[in-house]
Amino acid sequence: MISIAPSILSADFANLERDIKIVEEAGADMLHIDVMDGHFVPNITIGYPVVKSLRKKSSLLFDCHLMISNPENYINAFAESGADLITVHAEATVHLHRLVQMIKDRGLKAGIALNPATSVSVLENIISEIDLVLIMSVNPGFGGQKFIENSYEKIRKAKAMIDSAALKTDIQVDGGIGLDNISKVAACGANIMVAGSAVFNSGDISGVIKKLKGQCGCV
Ligand code: DX5
Ligand code: ZN
Repeated sequence: MISIAPSILSADFANLERDIKIVEEAGADMLHIDVMDGHFVPNITIGYPVVKSLRKKSSLLFDCHLMISNPENYINAFAESGADLITVHAEATVHLHRLVQMIKDRGLKAGIALNPATSVSVLENIISEIDLVLIMSVNPGFGGQKFIENSYEKIRKAKAMIDSAALKTDIQVDGGIGLDNISKVAACGANIMVAGSAVFNSGDISGVIKKLKGQCGCV
């Protein structure tokens, strides 16, 4: 089963409640919330106060993708604000195992994101501890970028690692996903598709979510 996670990075920030309702009613499986600090990535977006406000407006699973330096300083704040899943970048900490434990100790699902140039092999000693692997298929920081082709191979490698350990870890892919490539991303073994601009810049948010699901044989 393929899940669609619309990224609110491309939503209308003045109308987040409205846009979230639309994706929820259209069958989105979770809400992807991109947190950027202008330090780990060259862009600034939203922080945990926004997550806290949105929590009152939606029952969707909140998938918080932290593109921030010193993520360990913010896990409690995101947990208290209503995150269900927190994904941290392997590149953002030297104590990845400890960071993952912090997330799990809060009773949340834990994910690890890998930038395009980071090898899947960094997951080898921690894959059994996490709920999700996030393969970044663009360099993090902005919506609307082009899918990087070698991501297909990275998804296959992550899938092989997970299967060989008989795990059920989710594989999420983020960046440049649209109607043209979602079925290939799924065929490589990914099961959670993040889509920002493809959904929110389409002029038909609801229709695109249904079409994305259709491309994966999910409707
Ligand atoms: C990029 C973010 C993505 C972004 C994807 O750093 O992590 O979640 O919203 O946007 P699209 O789908 O437009 O590539
Ligand atoms: Zn993201």
